Amino acid sequence: MAILIKTPEDIERMRVAGRLAAEVLDFIAPQVKPGVTTGELDRLCHEFMVAQQDTVPAPLNYAPPGYRPFPKSICTSVNHQVCHGIPGERVLKNGDIVNIDITVIKDGYHGDTSRMFYVGEPSVAARRLCEVTYECMWAGIAQVRPGGFLGDIGHAIQTHAEKHGFSVVREFCGHGIGRRFHEEPQVLHYGKPGTLDRLAPGMIFTVEPMINAGRREIRELADGWTIVTKDHSLSAQWEHTVLVTEAGFEVLTVSPQMPAPARTARADGRSAVAA
Ligand code: MF3
Ligand code: CO
Ligand code: CO
Repeated sequence: MAILIKTPEDIERMRVAGRLAAEVLDFIAPQVKPGVTTGELDRLCHEFMVAQQDTVPAPLNYAPPGYRPFPKSICTSVNHQVCHGIPGERVLKNGDIVNIDITVIKDGYHGDTSRMFYVGEPSVAARRLCEVTYECMWAGIAQVRPGGFLGDIGHAIQTHAEKHGFSVVREFCGHGIGRRFHEEPQVLHYGKPGTLDRLAPGMIFTVEPMINAGRREIRELADGWTIVTKDHSLSAQWEHTVLVTEAGFEVLTVSPQMPAPARTARADGRSAVAA
């Protein structure tokens, strides 16, 4: 099946869904501190989505083929958890890093975004991983333009991650998104420039690299969802939903408190704004 090209009407509704998803992250940010449980973060986000936004939390009961229904409304992935962490009784403690991944449905359209949060003061190593992963996401997004290739995105991400001695998770990728949570194409976070599908205006997909401080291998926990690093090294992830425009790209998951686009290191070691 081909990659859908969204209509102007679709795009306008995707802007709304994307903004709402990002605003859930703005809302929950002040609550991410030592002593809170991931279950409490889930409860607060669920309440905000349903009661304040009139959005539907897409993860709740989401059950792709081969998976049991996801039991909560957000994903919370702590430290060596790579993605799809299930909120619960776990108490966040000083020095933890946690990814919070929000997907809302508004008027039938999905917005999908995640950020890393520091619980109190992170270690130097944890901070570095989160920062480089953020730069990786932006290095990928900066490749998005009509006539470009999906492989350009993966290559930019992989190059930046490996330059810093980190590894890219291969088993999960970004994805087309719209009326469905996960559509074509798959957006790999590694690869070669000039390969895979050509990008065209009206495509919408996520860029969501998962970067490990150690080896890239992962395993799934017995809960059927939580993915962790095999070597127990820290893992980080950031995610935006992105539209291919005539000029380049537009990030749809924007909000008042979203972090500024990353300044990504160039080959000459100097800094340049990626976007
Ligand atoms: N939000 C995740 C993504 O970026 C998917 C989570 S599926 C869930 O694709 F069921 F775990 F929520
Ligand atoms: Co996603
Ligand atoms: Co997501």
